[in-house]
Amino acid sequence: MSRIGIIGGTGLTKIRQLEIIKRQVVHTPYGEPSGFFTWGQLFGHEIIFLARHGYSHHLPPHKVNYRANIWAMQDLGVERVIAFNAVGGITEEMQPETIVIPHQIIDYTHGRDHTFFEGENSSGVTHIDFTEPYCAQTREALIKAAEKAGVKIVSKAVYAATQGPRLETAAEIDKLEKDGCSIVGMTGMPEAALAKEKGLSYAACAIVANRAAGRGDGEITVEMIEAHLKNGIVSAAKLLEAVMPKLL
Ligand code: HPA
Repeated sequence: MSRIGIIGGTGLTKIRQLEIIKRQVVHTPYGEPSGFFTWGQLFGHEIIFLARHGYSHHLPPHKVNYRANIWAMQDLGVERVIAFNAVGGITEEMQPETIVIPHQIIDYTHGRDHTFFEGENSSGVTHIDFTEPYCAQTREALIKAAEKAGVKIVSKAVYAATQGPRLETAAEIDKLEKDGCSIVGMTGMPEAALAKEKGLSYAACAIVANRAAGRGDGEITVEMIEAHLKNGIVSAAKLLEAVMPKLL
């Protein structure tokens, strides 16, 4: 049975249904993770939860210590990670509150500590194969579970990982769409690559919080994002309930 880690993004600093067993602080060679790790029972299965932005949501996307988070997850014995990300919807299909299981990523971030392979202590230069950034088996389990539970999802998307913390300009979103991206978020990278470097099975579950810049009517507000995430998370919880037995 593989131990499951869940990384919660904006709007998901805790899982309501999680029956907490213990909280654990982990120190890593890469510094401090976003917060303590919460061990608990979720729909009858033991999981380890971490709030990516901290439990009081104080860490912006570019300040998250992705290396410490992933290192600690592996140190705690996690083999499979489901990561939640709030995103903006670029293409027409990506309307607010849609749940999306991306299959590809383009990384537009910069200046983040993005690798465990610094070349210093390892025996040589290491290049991981990142052709498929997400674990096919975990994605498949999420997609099948959604079908079974009647949760409407979009089962393919290219995730544009932007630097933030500001949202994009309308022209930037046009460029991302030309690049083939259908959703945009700030936390997908380097998390996915670091998980791959550590050999973790990693898949993302994105929740569309808003239409991306220039795609909706008017300004994108925090209130709008929060309201959509609140509803999206209800579907995400149903999806988690359905997927748990499929991941054992
Ligand atoms: N852009 C980038 N990240 C986001 C967005 C967005 O529109 N919405 C939620 N996270």
